[in-house]
Amino acid sequence: MQQESKRLLQAGKTIAFVPTMGWLHEGHLALMREGRRLGDTLIVSIFVNPTQFGPAEDFQTYPKDLDRDLNLANSVGVDVIFAPEIGAMYDKAFQTHVDLEMLPRHLCGLSRPGHFRGVATVVTKLFNIVRPHVAIFGEKDYQQLAIIRRMVHDLSLNIRVVGVPTVRESDGLAMSSRNTYLSEDERRSAQSLFHSLKQAQENVAEGIRDAEELIRGASELIGSHPHVKIDYVSICDPETLEDVDRVEGAALMALAVRVGKTRLIDNAILKPIAD
Ligand code: PAF
Repeated sequence: MQQESKRLLQAGKTIAFVPTMGWLHEGHLALMREGRRLGDTLIVSIFVNPTQFGPAEDFQTYPKDLDRDLNLANSVGVDVIFAPEIGAMYDKAFQTHVDLEMLPRHLCGLSRPGHFRGVATVVTKLFNIVRPHVAIFGEKDYQQLAIIRRMVHDLSLNIRVVGVPTVRESDGLAMSSRNTYLSEDERRSAQSLFHSLKQAQENVAEGIRDAEELIRGASELIGSHPHVKIDYVSICDPETLEDVDRVEGAALMALAVRVGKTRLIDNAILKPIAD
């Protein structure tokens, strides 16, 4: 991959890059279509990164089907797929990590210790291997996107980071490789994440500004469904991810909910309509 990137750069090509963990869905394809638009060459990585999974998480069972992924990537005009073996990314003596100080201390970082260190490290490695001009990420993983933007800025990586809006199923459920784990019943409960975000947006439009009240409303809506266990419902500053008490400007509402054994996340911007 490093040789191929060098060749592309020497030929004056701009490289657009979409990092993924495979089991591609429409959400990934939307990132790739954006990448296709933004670069001469579109490179996609498929790598289930062990260092971003906790010991009790689904690394071993994460869904995989490389042939299926290759066909889907082909259908949107991907030029190069980089699918390294674990040993090629991490040798036995591996000991260098990229860690951010503040952004991982919120939202998913609280219940997934070490997760964002794993993400920041692997994304840095992938950036160094692929050497993209532009990298595209989904807004569904809002905290990940914020962390990567900050990291690229802090480390002067000279890569444009582009966020793409969440792609949803027709019932509103945010697309995720992990949706494949849901039973039919759980799938119905999972819709409550999207419905609670919509409800909060409506509440804000009606004039409710108190974050606690909005969070209570969302938690009650989600909690009224079977199989759910809320990890967090948070309203925070969209840049620092610090909790806010009131929704005066734009605020981020972010959720993580376990539905059965599957942990799902979603988010939306809450914004009062200007007077
Ligand atoms: O969002 C993902 O799929 C992963 O966290 C990423 C960015 C590919 C890093 O492993």
